[in-house]
Amino acid sequence: MIHPKAAVIGWPIEHSKSPRIHGHWLQKHGIAGEYSRLAISPDDFLSELKTLPARGFVGVNVTIPHKETALANAAQATDRARAIGAANTLVFLPNGGYRADNTDGEGFINNLKQNAPNWDAKSGSALVLGAGGASRAILYSLLAEGTPEILLANRTKARADALAAEFGDRIKVIDWADISAATADVATLVNTTSLGMTGQAPLEITLHCGQNTLVTDIVYAPLQTDLLKQATAKGCQIVDGLGMLLHQAVPGFEAWFGTRPSVDETLRQIVLK
Ligand code: ATR
Repeated sequence: MIHPKAAVIGWPIEHSKSPRIHGHWLQKHGIAGEYSRLAISPDDFLSELKTLPARGFVGVNVTIPHKETALANAAQATDRARAIGAANTLVFLPNGGYRADNTDGEGFINNLKQNAPNWDAKSGSALVLGAGGASRAILYSLLAEGTPEILLANRTKARADALAAEFGDRIKVIDWADISAATADVATLVNTTSLGMTGQAPLEITLHCGQNTLVTDIVYAPLQTDLLKQATAKGCQIVDGLGMLLHQAVPGFEAWFGTRPSVDETLRQIVLK
């Protein structure tokens, strides 16, 4: 009996929550597999990756700083990984090499669908704050879901302009100074920056939205960010960011271990512990 193995590779990797998520699912489904953490430096990444299939690994998650390298060296890649420009989920192929996918956007969308079932991307514009790697995945997935227009704001405007040029004319770049005013008329508001995270600067914004707006944050430490607290006080709907992390793990687990797992309150509590 082969015990399929998977892991998350990063540098550093100690703080990754992925082993808890996959460990819980392995146990819940009675699968005799393993999911571990591998600290691998950028210099060693590609050579180490090649050794894994012979050691029983069926695939891996990759995180910072390997996400772009993983995509660039893939034998196969999904359209969404190519569009996002980074991979987070690799599946080793029988004849060598690996297929690279990016599940962050799917995780983002499925978190909203699970926790705000009435939310509809098509119902109006979105305001997206930030233009880093997380923003790319979220822009891609919001566009794929049919969001008619996305207002994109970033402290460094040139990065937002570059994303707009790449993702097309449904993206409208606005000034960072105008983010508060822009909240008045959007169906979806997403913070993809690190602002508001424990130990980081606050996100300074005044919301002018109400019950027709869904506000969500990729920051999940704290779980209730100041943005989400303000949104609740103003009567907006909110979804916290922890579910994105949990949902992005689903496709990898299914590809490696053959069972599609679910995201529930038990898993949330295990990851929050
Ligand atoms: P990730 O891949 O997690 O998205 P990133 O590429 O470092 O990380 O992007 C971080 C995002 O947070 C960027 O949009 C960044 O804005 P800049 O492009 O101007 O750097 C944003 N960010 C970080 N600190 C910020 C701050 N103090 N004020 C405004 N935006 C900030």
